[in-house]
Amino acid sequence: PDSVEIASGMPSPDTVPYVSATFKCKDGSELHIDEETMKRITPYQKTRGMPDMIKWMTIIHKEFHNPPKMGAAEDGSQWGVTLCPGALGGMDYLFQEIMRKNDVVFLDEFAFGGTKKQVRKNRAVYVGLPMDGDGVIPDKLRDYLDRWEEVSLPFANGKKLNKPRVICMTPVGQNPTGVNTPLKRKQEIYKIAQEYNLLIVEDDPYYYLQYSETPIPSYQALDVDGRVVRIDSMSKFITPGIRMGWISGPEEIISNTSKHMSLSCMSLSCFTEIAVVKLFDNLGIQGLRDRVKYLRDFYRERRDTVEELVRKHLAGMATWTTPTAGMYLWLNISGTNDSMFLADKELCKKYKVYVVPALDFACDTTKKYSQIRICFARAPQSDLE
Ligand SMILES: Cc1ncc(COP(=O)(O)O)c(C=O)c1O
Repeated sequence: PDSVEIASGMPSPDTVPYVSATFKCKDGSELHIDEETMKRITPYQKTRGMPDMIKWMTIIHKEFHNPPKMGAAEDGSQWGVTLCPGALGGMDYLFQEIMRKNDVVFLDEFAFGGTKKQVRKNRAVYVGLPMDGDGVIPDKLRDYLDRWEEVSLPFANGKKLNKPRVICMTPVGQNPTGVNTPLKRKQEIYKIAQEYNLLIVEDDPYYYLQYSETPIPSYQALDVDGRVVRIDSMSKFITPGIRMGWISGPEEIISNTSKHMSLSCMSLSCFTEIAVVKLFDNLGIQGLRDRVKYLRDFYRERRDTVEELVRKHLAGMATWTTPTAGMYLWLNISGTNDSMFLADKELCKKYKVYVVPALDFACDTTKKYSQIRICFARAPQSDLE
């Protein structure tokens, strides 16, 4: 042999019970993991991902985002990517890297509960930015930054809070509001981030569920400075149970983020990685484009069904903006300033319908809100009726 393997603390490959595997896909294809591949994938894997997986992440990024800084990745310096255990797991490692105690992070006014908890876990503070039908309002962001001393008082709890350095948003099919931020608005926010030297965290699991023929470009697609970190997820692209996401952006941040991951779960499961690699190898880039079209048409149809039903049954009782991406309808309930009563357990049980009130997502929980979130992704079309 070239060398005798007695250094690494790895078990003998002879003891691995698996020999090969085959995944059957809905389109009739079979993805086969042969004996040789199984031998290659069962030991510890690289934290940032198997080379074949990294290759696919890079191809997907080039196809859908083509970030200006990506060209530099080829010389290994400026843009990087790492796998992570879902967007939430990725956020955990990323936030460990970019947040310190008492830091302030800007979030969407209504935000995914996991994001709020991750900020708190790092003993940082979040402040929600007012939104309209196009997402975060640029003038408000500027105003908050300009008047920070004054604005931060209610959140400060007697402490002096530093000016935020990070703004974390979900710009596409936003959870919970369904808002899809247009390009012009993204450009305005990006310009402010440049002026005030903010890092943008683009937590964008619904990016690939935009219903229009041409999706709105991401923040990272606009990023000429290397100030955007994207969190992507396979949860809506394939399925949440596989726990795969990927984080991309300035190489230094990505590299440090993956170090946090290497100290906890080390890497994703080799089975997950190889199952996705095999799927993507089989689909090819055209197959991936077709899958995006499939998801787009699937969710647009669901949106149409739900909107028609809401129009029929809730006329005069609620208002809403038609979502153009994602899985959520944000209903503004008429005649009340507090939607909490609609989440009453007994009421939900009686009518066998469960909705989430706006308060569950609000960054400012001292106020009352009249909205509720409906997710139209999971219930079959017939149940929605
Ligand atoms: C905005 C947002 N970020 C992150 C996540 C978590 O995604 P994942 O399943 O990839 O951890 C979700 C899930 O609903 C989400 O809505």
